Amino acid sequence: MPADNACSATAIAHPNIALCKYWGKRDAALNLPSTPSLSLTLAPFRTRTTVTWGAETDCVVFNGVENTGEESRKILLTLDRVARSMATAGAPRPPCRVETENDFPTAAGLASSASGFAALVVAADAAARTRLPDATLAALARQGSGSATRSLQGGWVEWPIGERPDGADSHGRQIAAADHWDVRMLVVLVRSGPKEIGSTEGMNHTMRTSPYYPAWVAGAAEDVVQARAAVLGRDLERLGRVTERSALRMHASMIAADPAVLYWKPETLLALEVVRAARRSGVPAWATMDAGPNVKVLCEAADSGVLVERLRGAGLDVQVLVPGGPARLLEPATATSP
Ligand code: DP6
Repeated sequence: MPADNACSATAIAHPNIALCKYWGKRDAALNLPSTPSLSLTLAPFRTRTTVTWGAETDCVVFNGVENTGEESRKILLTLDRVARSMATAGAPRPPCRVETENDFPTAAGLASSASGFAALVVAADAAARTRLPDATLAALARQGSGSATRSLQGGWVEWPIGERPDGADSHGRQIAAADHWDVRMLVVLVRSGPKEIGSTEGMNHTMRTSPYYPAWVAGAAEDVVQARAAVLGRDLERLGRVTERSALRMHASMIAADPAVLYWKPETLLALEVVRAARRSGVPAWATMDAGPNVKVLCEAADSGVLVERLRGAGLDVQVLVPGGPARLLEPATATSP
């Protein structure tokens, strides 16, 4: 039963896929990145989250099942941070109920933590009636999961490493809206189960043990400069080259860790080969991969049909995503009657 002054709000957010990757942290406590990144927010995949601020007890329900593990701990920690950002900071956070669901595989390298923490901070801000400034919400999302700071924005988003020690200048910023460029991102689903090593653990281990990690960081800023210019000039060839290079260099850094972080499966290589063969045959397409074996393929809208046919022809499972909008409230916050 909710408390007398309980308030609920529901938000949705789309995942994003980085074209220039974030892999490594310059400050673990504030979750600040070692590399700048640039991403595209993607629909129709989405997370939908309802926060009730003032419930009987803390409770997190994840895809219909109560969760008491690491995910719920991180979610409740984010609500603690929202409470600390309030004007009445110092007052204890009331118990909260969080119900969150993804309409796509969770923790499989499809950016579910990005859409998850973006939807969470938007819903929590409305339910707690805090009305925090956008930059504060972006920092709260970043502390939940770095890539979430990009999912607050729609379309093409850059996340700089920032210069300030407190990280106030390190959050997602839109460089072009979703309707700027009608590209497609094809998702080749190689495995839908949760990944063996989470991205936080994978990047920390890469930082500690990979001799290639410094080289990865050294090239990242120039990649973002190139990618930004390519997005603004709608130059797919230029963007595609940087996209594939950034993903492969990130994976090279983790494969060189000790022991290696190796997410690839046989179908991962098969998908990469279909993409490279498509390019050789004159169909422009470039691949990217995150902390998992799934492959995403960037292409023009007009070429997506033939690429889907070729990938499915190779026995692969493919879904088509389009540029998506920002995280948003579904309905105004409502007082929950006891
Ligand atoms: C490979 O944002 O999940 O998807 O900040 O530790 O929660 P934490 O990591 P997370 O890492 C995403 C890594 C990536 C690349 C990217 O999205 O830029």
